[in-house]
Amino acid sequence: MYKRIIVCLLFLFVSAECNEQEKIVSEGAELFKVKCAICHMSDRPTSKAEMDALIAPPMVGAMYNVYMNFDTQEEANAFLKDYLMNPTKEKAICKENKLLRFGLMPSQKGLLSDEELDKIIEYLNKTYGIKYN
Ligand code: HEC
Repeated sequence: MYKRIIVCLLFLFVSAECNEQEKIVSEGAELFKVKCAICHMSDRPTSKAEMDALIAPPMVGAMYNVYMNFDTQEEANAFLKDYLMNPTKEKAICKENKLLRFGLMPSQKGLLSDEELDKIIEYLNKTYGIKYN
């Protein structure tokens, strides 16, 4: 009997944790739509017209580049947290031609709270993330 209660409590606890994580990711997705998608397409363009209309690198490519530049998830997250608030040419990890074509990303300072930024990063990792060992 007690065993059952303990198993049930554990299950409730784990599913509450999962719900909390899902909530963060879905709030991150909403924030991404409002704050980032104005400039960044999620996926690669599928026509020349779309390609020509880009005003920033598509997120799928930008994030792949971020992951390939850092050895750990923590370092990738720290880069994003810093870059989105204080982008500079020196810190940029995208290829030089991107900076030439699109210019530097404008700082999001004052447009996003720290908590919102964390939610967006969770969403990006969930959507584009790679496996770090
Ligand atoms: C006003 C347009 C604009 C908005 C809004 C914007 N970005 Fe960007 N972003 C850019 C441009 C342009 C670049 C390419 C130049 C660069 O890397 O600074 C870029 C680059 C990036 C990069 C690659 C950085 C690098 O060094 O390679 C990431 C990651 C990124 N943006 C994420 C985001 C996220 C997440 C948001 C929403 C919180 C966002 N951006 C909002 C225009 C924008």
